[in-house]
Amino acid sequence: MTEMGKIVEVADELTAPVTIGPEAYISEEYAKAEADKLWRKVWLQAGRLEDIPNVGDYITYDVLADSVIIMRSGETELRAFHNVCPHRGRRLIDTPKGQRNARGNKTNIVCGFHGWTFDRQGSCTYIEHQEDWQGKLTEERTALGKVQVDTWGGWLWINLDPDAGTLAEYLEPAAGLLDPFELQNMRPRWRKWVVFDCNWKVAMEAFNETYHVSTTHPEFMEFGQFRGWGRNQGLHSNIGYDAPKGREEDQAKLRLGAGDDPRKSTWEMQDFTWKNANTNTTMTLVEAAKRLIDELPEDTPAPEVSKHWLASARAADEARGVVWPVVDPSHTAKSGTSWQIFPNTQIGHAVNNMLVYHYRPYKADPNKCIFEASVYELYPEGEAPETDWEYTEPGDWPPVLQQDFANMAAVQEGMKSSGFRGTQPNPYMERTVPSLHYNLARFMGTGAPRKID
Ligand code: FES
Ligand SMILES: [Fe+2]
Repeated sequence: MTEMGKIVEVADELTAPVTIGPEAYISEEYAKAEADKLWRKVWLQAGRLEDIPNVGDYITYDVLADSVIIMRSGETELRAFHNVCPHRGRRLIDTPKGQRNARGNKTNIVCGFHGWTFDRQGSCTYIEHQEDWQGKLTEERTALGKVQVDTWGGWLWINLDPDAGTLAEYLEPAAGLLDPFELQNMRPRWRKWVVFDCNWKVAMEAFNETYHVSTTHPEFMEFGQFRGWGRNQGLHSNIGYDAPKGREEDQAKLRLGAGDDPRKSTWEMQDFTWKNANTNTTMTLVEAAKRLIDELPEDTPAPEVSKHWLASARAADEARGVVWPVVDPSHTAKSGTSWQIFPNTQIGHAVNNMLVYHYRPYKADPNKCIFEASVYELYPEGEAPETDWEYTEPGDWPPVLQQDFANMAAVQEGMKSSGFRGTQPNPYMERTVPSLHYNLARFMGTGAPRKID
């Protein structure tokens, strides 16, 4: 690349056309530097509260060399520890082979090497032949290393930096705009993960914009327009659909099909989405869409169809004890369809379901990532299915996701070409891309978007 435009210095400038060099996606040095500069500094979504309902329940969460134990240490108390024994460094809780993380219940954590034992508060309670250390083994020297843990939206969030600011502060304005959707009440319908052949940012950027829909998912074009906006939101970003004036709530995820007969196209879109993506909708919504043809006359105006569909699905769910939150349409419009929580989580929210993506580096290899997707919905009390993370080969994911996968590894390879001059994201529809790199550059000290002159 010869000409270098001016670096984007303030977030407001992200509305301009910019270019981003490939370093953050393909450089080994950059990938190594991320460990200290990024992953050990930020709040990370590490699990779900319902994964550890009882005292003593724990899960582990790994990012590169760091492994963290998150434990329900009391009825209303959570603790997180570095998953490493202070004696000689054995990892305390191993991840069973082939699984995403360890999960279980413990009264004590006992190290498998020499038996040092820790209670749920992380204090060391047993050391064989402790007297041999001549009184030097203080509480400080023997306790498990503490990791910050907090909750929001029903998730467990951790931060490896003891000096990091609060989670509540970190998540704004995303948390404030998402709170009315009561994400903490949703439970997973399915959770899948896979080690994929691309950088975690390439994976994330396959899902953070609507620009790719018409080409990558052409089937959806029969159901309507998928032109949408992307906005910088401080550390985070969000996306939503464009909607005609007066139909602002159509910027949200539960939208109507287009065409002459929205009753029919809404049903077709819901049916297609359920069968081919199994995301972004629920059986209740699909069935309510199917009833539209019988319940409404042919010439019902689109806004009426939309109202009827959502009211009928809401009523059907209420009848089985599933109560959706009520969110003001103007708020729904502002919140959009999906949030990118810096750096590596996406929450695609609606009043009764959500789709969550999570991306992590794999062994500091810039060409690999751990890709996860989980789909949640509201269930009647006590009826949520028992799910766990299923390792799923790329060819076994829902077909719509496979269409996205088809781009991911190809982008990773393409970016290594000596002929590639850097990405040029759509300043309106893909603004989430430069938003991510603008924020990444503040942690990494390199890779800021540059304006295209
Ligand atoms: S390494 Fe854990 S007890 Fe020795
Ligand atoms: Fe896609």
